[in-house]
Amino acid sequence: MPARRFLALGALGLSALLVVPAVATASSEAAQQGHGADRRHDASGDSLRELADRVDLHVGVAVNTDQLAADPVYSGIVAREFGSVTPENAMKWALVEPTRGTYDWAAADALVASARANRQVVRGHTLVWHSQLPEWLADPSGSTTTFTPEELRTILRDHVKAEARHFRGRIRQWDVVNEAFNDDGTWRQSIWYQALGPGYVADAFRWAHEADPFAKLYYNDYNLEYTGPKSEAAYQLVKQLQAEGVPIDGVGFQTHLSTQYGFPNLRETMQRFADLGLEVAQTEVDVRTATGVAEGTQNVPASALHQYTQEAYWSQSMQACLLVRECVSYTVWGVGDANSWIPGVFPGEGAALLWDEALAPKPQYAVLHQDLELAAGAPDRRGAGGGRH
Ligand code: XIL
Repeated sequence: MPARRFLALGALGLSALLVVPAVATASSEAAQQGHGADRRHDASGDSLRELADRVDLHVGVAVNTDQLAADPVYSGIVAREFGSVTPENAMKWALVEPTRGTYDWAAADALVASARANRQVVRGHTLVWHSQLPEWLADPSGSTTTFTPEELRTILRDHVKAEARHFRGRIRQWDVVNEAFNDDGTWRQSIWYQALGPGYVADAFRWAHEADPFAKLYYNDYNLEYTGPKSEAAYQLVKQLQAEGVPIDGVGFQTHLSTQYGFPNLRETMQRFADLGLEVAQTEVDVRTATGVAEGTQNVPASALHQYTQEAYWSQSMQACLLVRECVSYTVWGVGDANSWIPGVFPGEGAALLWDEALAPKPQYAVLHQDLELAAGAPDRRGAGGGRH
């Protein structure tokens, strides 16, 4: 896709010169006066998904299946703005197999059906993880269990195969293994690693591929965005898997960013993995910042500077994906700030998503929209309806 790369480069150059300062100036006003809500009625009128389609990219969202069923404003945004959906929780082990051997697919099935109706692809998340395991299997930290290694291997194989088989042919990308490494690059001491050693990863990919040969199989983790020991450990793992002929297709960069840290060298890191012959994706993007902690302020950025920095980070993360040819999808981790996991897990940080607590689009939405519009060739720019005088 040389065209996409050329246009995306254009987007980076243009936005470096024009977009970020312009949006930053408008944003505090927009935030205060609710102008962000008007953004989707702008001249182009295109949704994120329509723009992304033109550059062969899936822009996706993590979906709360309860809210999808209950809130028409929420489900309207999901259907209109996104070409891909991921269940935020509904495919995790604790939810699909609350009792050993008894599966409950209801919530996940409903999401897959809704995706089909909306012509969206589905990212499956996640088959093997240390977290959100059912109580019968492990303690809440996912580090202790009463099962023997032999039993655990059987349990893992049965689960991976049952879940991958259930959704066979309906999942575009599966996060087969999630978060296997610590930040220092050592293996996380999950029940899986302790009992089975690093070989559990290769096993899981093989089982998943047997059960669903159509899905692209991913290793997914956070902080891979930065050069460092964790990213290096994942890189070596992937190379090793490839050398052994294990069916791995992609690497997911969760991209949970915070403005208290510098922006990662995301483009370079994604390209490094892509150069191994893999797809890459940003799988759980959110950009948190310092906020108040009092009731009602958890999603109010501490200052205009915090807000501007968030906008710049959203823009740079999208541009990183647009600039890496193998970056096939960009998924944001939720719709509105009211339902984001961030304030609960990172006290004092929030406002991490593209829509506010009332589900009005924030300036962050406008930034992403504009980057995609530029990448798509800013189609109205020279046209009759382009608004140029
Ligand atoms: C989070 C969900 O957003 C929360 O609703 C849930 O309580 C905990 O998990 N990395 C992942 C995601 O891979 O599955 C996590 O999602 C966020 C961190």
